[in-house]
Amino acid sequence: MPEKNNSFSPLPPWPRTDYCGNLRATDAGREVALWGWVATRRDHGGLVFIDLRDREGIVQLVFNPAHDADAHLVASAARSEYYVAVKGAVVMRREGTVNAELPTGEIEIAVTAAEVLNPSNAPPFPIGGAENTAEEVRLKYRYLDLRRDGMQRNLRRRHQALRGARDYLDANGFIEIETPILFRATPEGARDYLVPSRVNPGKFYALPQSPQLLKQILMVGGFDRYYQIARCFRDEDLRANRQPEFSQIDIEMTGPRPEDIYAMAEGMMASIYKFALGVELARPFPRMPYAEAIERFGSDKPDLRFGLELKNLTAAFAGTAFKVFADVLARGEAIYALALPAECQLSRRELDELIESIKSRQGLGLAWVKINADGWQGPVAKFINDDERKRVVEAAGLHIGDTLLMVAGTPGKVCPLLGDVRLQLGTKFNLRDDAALKFLWVVDFPLFDYSDEEKRLVSVNHPFTAPNPADLALLDSRPLDARALAYDMVLNGQEMGGGSIRIHNAELQLKVFELLGIPRDEAAAKFGFLLDALGYGAPPHGGIAFGVDRIAMMVCGTDSLRDVMAFPKTQKAVDPMSGAPSEVDPRQLRELSIKVAL
Ligand code: AMO
Ligand code: AMP
Repeated sequence: MPEKNNSFSPLPPWPRTDYCGNLRATDAGREVALWGWVATRRDHGGLVFIDLRDREGIVQLVFNPAHDADAHLVASAARSEYYVAVKGAVVMRREGTVNAELPTGEIEIAVTAAEVLNPSNAPPFPIGGAENTAEEVRLKYRYLDLRRDGMQRNLRRRHQALRGARDYLDANGFIEIETPILFRATPEGARDYLVPSRVNPGKFYALPQSPQLLKQILMVGGFDRYYQIARCFRDEDLRANRQPEFSQIDIEMTGPRPEDIYAMAEGMMASIYKFALGVELARPFPRMPYAEAIERFGSDKPDLRFGLELKNLTAAFAGTAFKVFADVLARGEAIYALALPAECQLSRRELDELIESIKSRQGLGLAWVKINADGWQGPVAKFINDDERKRVVEAAGLHIGDTLLMVAGTPGKVCPLLGDVRLQLGTKFNLRDDAALKFLWVVDFPLFDYSDEEKRLVSVNHPFTAPNPADLALLDSRPLDARALAYDMVLNGQEMGGGSIRIHNAELQLKVFELLGIPRDEAAAKFGFLLDALGYGAPPHGGIAFGVDRIAMMVCGTDSLRDVMAFPKTQKAVDPMSGAPSEVDPRQLRELSIKVAL
């Protein structure tokens, strides 16, 4: 229970004239009235000093019993996080007491009146030292955590980033339209959050994984250009850059070519960086086909802040006598490698650990050799003849001192694996240029992937993505080779946004559903409203959606979404503050015709 508060008035005793953190030497001589939290309090016998904090920062208050005995008494009794109101004069600090680290450090407030508006229980962690407190505790007391500098700065920067997006979209004729949260399942590849309908027993709404179908229908509905800061819900395994509930800047346009989307999205991103950080972005962003991204970086979201690219050694080892590689090549598979430069030395133990982690995760081996001045060294060096060595040196661009890490197998497995290893080594050897902003469009995604689990084609993006018109004929013969008109915007190895040109023709949409193993009747039952809409003069359309939280993460320079969301959930999708999700009253369940089978 909170400490007793003797003042029950919800109205502060006097209006505020200024925020604490905004006062400067130019304010000296002014009478001000402030509200704020007690950040620190120092009692020097006679004088009491309090650092008072509000959202703009901290200012030092001085309580002199000779000025006002009552105010001095209030200050003596005040403790950390009490919320107080004060009045006083802004005075210059004496020489030698100026605090150069505080923006308000040249001045202080000589307090003449003070009131405690609400006392505080002893906080479970010091606001100033919250960084060292377990995150679970900070999330439980999020209101205290939010008071600290870092969170205040992050959420305000996020707000500026969104202003930048809105400013740009508004200036370019996009109309902000809200779409329902209680809706039908939209397939974005995650599980749905379901909401039971009381008035339709046994029926459920699905919270939108994105407003994908609705924004397409807004194009059919004639709005031409739409955007929304849309809340999306996906029941998937959480990671540092994934939350079950997150926001998108969701955008759709009538009749765009991919180039139009790139130009628009780059303009918006430039506006975001300008509003949030005052930084000018270099445009246009480079583009890279998906196949090249996989081949060179083993990832569809390459981190271009460092090199260490994958090298294809398949041709260099043609005809090799090294059995492991020969077997792989005989199956028509491939050999890829990373060439680790001399500055990045892995010990024998580290190499063994790497091999072990690859084996346990992917069941693949890794062969390494060190390129020494006096020859090649390593367990497989003896199997590689001079001709092969020459070709490998050429293909991988090897230098004396390099360590070559080779993995053989299907490219679909080997490239992503080496892509992961590349990222790990980039971190281990600090290879990234931390100040860099490496934007990239990854384009020409395949339309379909084959799911071994489900034994059918699945959409790489979502089923409403248009095939590249040049590849339409492949749909019937080799659908896995068909490219989509889909694109992702990547920044420093993170997917910031993704989108596509859509299918606007009902017949083609049905055909894609069929290829995905969704028969006509099921398509009609689930997506009949979309198919119907496409049948009424639907214009060509396309769009993109950006992760607001990820953008905020990047402009705030943090690597956790939880640092840029006011009330995030933990790894277990729990809110430690409110205790959500929670059990509900059995009566509520009865009303919803739901039985819990636990
Ligand atoms: P997609 O599924 O790629 O596309 O999502 C777009 C962007 O949303 C962000 N994002 C997330 N952010 C935080 N937590 C999550 N769980 C999460 N999932 C996605 C990413 C991602 O790039 N309807 C399509 C867009 C379109 O086709 O226009 C869609 O939702 O930054
Ligand atoms: P083994 O025949 O399994 O003892 O492997 C001989 C060498 O080849 C070892 O150094 C293995 O790490 C390596 N190796 C095994 N499989 C692969 C693979 N798929 N790719 C690269 N190296 C491999």
